Amino acid sequence: MSLLEVRQLSMRFGGVQALERVSFTVAEGKIIGLMGANGAGKTTLFSLIAGNERPSSGEILFENQSLAGLRPDQVCRRGVARTFQVVRPFAGLTVIENVTTAALFGMRRYRDRAQARDAAAAVLQELELGDRAEALAGSLTLSGQKRLEVARALATGARLVLLDEVMAGLTPMEVEAMLLTLRTLHRTRGLTLVVIEHVMRALMQLSDEILVLHSGRLIAQGEPPAVASDPEVLRLYFGEAA
Ligand SMILES: Nc1ncnc2c1ncn2[C@@H]1O[C@H](COP(=O)(O)OP(=O)(O)O)[C@@H](O)[C@H]1O
Ligand SMILES: [Mg+2]
Repeated sequence: MSLLEVRQLSMRFGGVQALERVSFTVAEGKIIGLMGANGAGKTTLFSLIAGNERPSSGEILFENQSLAGLRPDQVCRRGVARTFQVVRPFAGLTVIENVTTAALFGMRRYRDRAQARDAAAAVLQELELGDRAEALAGSLTLSGQKRLEVARALATGARLVLLDEVMAGLTPMEVEAMLLTLRTLHRTRGLTLVVIEHVMRALMQLSDEILVLHSGRLIAQGEPPAVASDPEVLRLYFGEAA
């Protein structure tokens, strides 16, 4: 069954066609990699799915139900969470308070704040942030802040998690560690992931399927080896010589 279905999705910002008739499906339990140069429309696609922006036209279905007109909190309670490319923690709250807030905001109905806090503590362990729980979110390193973004998305209880460049700016070792964490989360929680990433090698390793956006159009989709040898992708990524 497809968990997410995007049909003929278009988005225009003034004179900019950020997305043009983009269609694809995401099967439950898969990891989908989303590639494309800066300005290709990747973040816009997440904003439309998560309800942060309204599409100019087209449809988005989650579990066969339209998400049209829903606010971000309503989309979140259906089971879809996103991270933000530019991290947005409540810098003045502790790490665990940030995650507890997400748990209370999300789809899980915790009995009380204490129960939500226990759930948040468990998520922090999974993200290897357990020992930073009482630190202020604003004091984390970039890698820590990216992990906190993932923790907040997970704590909502979402089944579909949209990760926007959670490996950008990290050292190669931190990228490897994040990949390992994402694989573990995918396996243990049975999550479906859509992952935007510029580190192509990392994305190819992680993903079951790759989507490539270029100037708002979906120009390639398929298994990583097929996309890596697609003539149009090669031309765009490696120049005419390829
Ligand atoms: N809120 C907005 N207002 C106006 N233009 C926007 C807005 N968000 C994105 N855009 C434009 O849409 C295009 C796609 O942007 P974006 O989705 O952020 O690309 P990506 O994440 O692939 O780098 C860009 O040309 C960008 O400038
Ligand atoms: Mg982006």
